[in-house]
Amino acid sequence: MDSWPEIEFERQGPFRRTLKGGIINPLANYLPGGLLRGLLKFGKSELAAANWADPGGWRSMVISYNGHARKLADRILIKGGTMPMALRNRRRLAGKVLASLIEQSPNQPAYVLCLGAGPGQIIIDAICQSGCTAKALLVDLNADAFEYGKALADAAGLQENISFVQADVRHVNGMLAQPPDIAKMLGICEYLTDEQIIAIAAALAAVMPDGTPIVFNTLSLAHGTDRFFRRVFGLHMIHRDARQLGALFEQAGFGDFTTAGEPLGVYEIVVGRKRPTQTSPPAAARRPPHAEGVAP
Ligand SMILES: C[S@@+](CC[C@H](N)C(=O)[O-])C[C@H]1O[C@@H](n2cnc3c(N)ncnc32)[C@H](O)[C@@H]1O
Repeated sequence: MDSWPEIEFERQGPFRRTLKGGIINPLANYLPGGLLRGLLKFGKSELAAANWADPGGWRSMVISYNGHARKLADRILIKGGTMPMALRNRRRLAGKVLASLIEQSPNQPAYVLCLGAGPGQIIIDAICQSGCTAKALLVDLNADAFEYGKALADAAGLQENISFVQADVRHVNGMLAQPPDIAKMLGICEYLTDEQIIAIAAALAAVMPDGTPIVFNTLSLAHGTDRFFRRVFGLHMIHRDARQLGALFEQAGFGDFTTAGEPLGVYEIVVGRKRPTQTSPPAAARRPPHAEGVAP
């Protein structure tokens, strides 16, 4: 996959990295959880409140994406925290990758299936950036996300392009009116077990035409605050690299994976392709070796 020099990623210089690695992250990870939760409550942190209400839910994602912080606690967490910075980088990178896939789709407008989509910020970014249009079906368990998503789609002039289904992504095979041209699973694999990922990918593979792309993301421990997320936010994420996730999607019928990373090293965006369904080999290949060269 191309690298994306045109994307303005958020980066951390050596001083900030050293400060975080040596002081800030160890404090966040090892100060008593009750004390940190108390400080965040006292500081009226919206990011912490969103995670406590729905760990890893769409609201905390939107707060990180927007980067706006009214309270001091949030200014520190959202502007300076490695994870919110990496999430904004992931949004930019995934938006570009999807915009390019939408443009390459042989079917226009491309039909994009977004699993665990939240309000659909990334697919809305992608459609706006692409040189063509697309239709997207957004699937999420949480219908609250859709009200916000409809406002986002309206603001982007895409109200006709986006539709919403409240459902569990594990039941994906019953949801589709037509085969998707692109499937996307961003911000969701880290909350699913290996078995759940394989089952969802297999259900997708059953309805996706050969060669169609699927987009998902990895998650590494490079953010340095997993212990903080678990103890203070109640966020239990499963970290998997491209090789581990690729192995799961491969079992379900995908292959040909390409990967692009963001500069903080927390997320990579992976694009895989639905492998051709096994068909009977051509007659010539089926001929037994002793028959080689014999006229039919
Ligand atoms: C971290 S948010 C990611 C939102 C969006 N994909 C993004 O990257 O900005 C995860 C979303 O997945 C949804 N979700 C989690 N498990 C789900 C499931 N089994 N079926 C449908 N949605 C699910 C949550 O409700 C939430 O909106």
